[in-house]
Amino acid sequence: MNIIDGKQIAQNLRNDIAKKVKQLDHAPGLAVILVGDDPASEVYVRNKDNACKEVGFYSEKINKSANITQQELLDEIRRLNNNDKIDGILVQLPLPKHLDANLVIETISPQKDVDGFHSENIGKLMQNKAYLRPCTPKGVMTMLATIGIDLVGKDCVVVGASNIVGRPMLMELLNARATVTICNSKTQDLSGKLRRADVVVAAVGIPQMIQGDWIKPGAVVIDVGINRLESGKLVGDVDFDSATKNASWMTPVPGGVGPMTIATLLENTLTAYQNRT
Ligand code: GUN
Repeated sequence: MNIIDGKQIAQNLRNDIAKKVKQLDHAPGLAVILVGDDPASEVYVRNKDNACKEVGFYSEKINKSANITQQELLDEIRRLNNNDKIDGILVQLPLPKHLDANLVIETISPQKDVDGFHSENIGKLMQNKAYLRPCTPKGVMTMLATIGIDLVGKDCVVVGASNIVGRPMLMELLNARATVTICNSKTQDLSGKLRRADVVVAAVGIPQMIQGDWIKPGAVVIDVGINRLESGKLVGDVDFDSATKNASWMTPVPGGVGPMTIATLLENTLTAYQNRT
């Protein structure tokens, strides 16, 4: 079994981006908005900010109180849409319940939507004409390309149908001409479907739910899950130890998909910059 070293692949991607930034006449800018003080979101936002600094981007970390009104948040986004120093805008999700996340996403200019969540960007992904593509699925595609997996005609199973990961992942794999099955919490015979998969992408958010004997010998396993056990240990959605007996390639948790998501956000911000200037 080979480990897919997301940390290293992400580092290489950041090094490439940093080299390109040195040749630009001004720095690409990313604004990250965090509403409230969810500790996990704070960690993600800090990591994004640090990654920006590493590659030489201009970054604005905007912290808003959990009781900001919808109107105030939309006004902040509109200001950033019109701010020339800012090429990419990201609002960290989830948002507090009184805010309409969908309206927030739709207010971000599609040209600055570096998360790729705006309906215009999702629509383009569906038509295989993508411009800004959601970071986690795009990062997974970069990992698969880096280890040399040819997806044409492969049977892929995506477990989880979220807007952020599962659904765009389905489109990415389909655009690469794989045959894709997407599963949700009501899927029957999940293990039977997984046993036929050449590539498994797990994004359910249930710790170690996918058992090693559900993995076809030689399959590639991408684990998007990141769950903290009561012991404090971070684990994925796949039972890593048992899956290593069957998988040919597998991502670790942590150090797999997570670093790729952030490096891909930087890649998208550079794309947004290049399309503005
Ligand atoms: N929350 C969890 N993942 C993401 C992501 O990729 N982007 C944003 N904005 N929020 C998230």
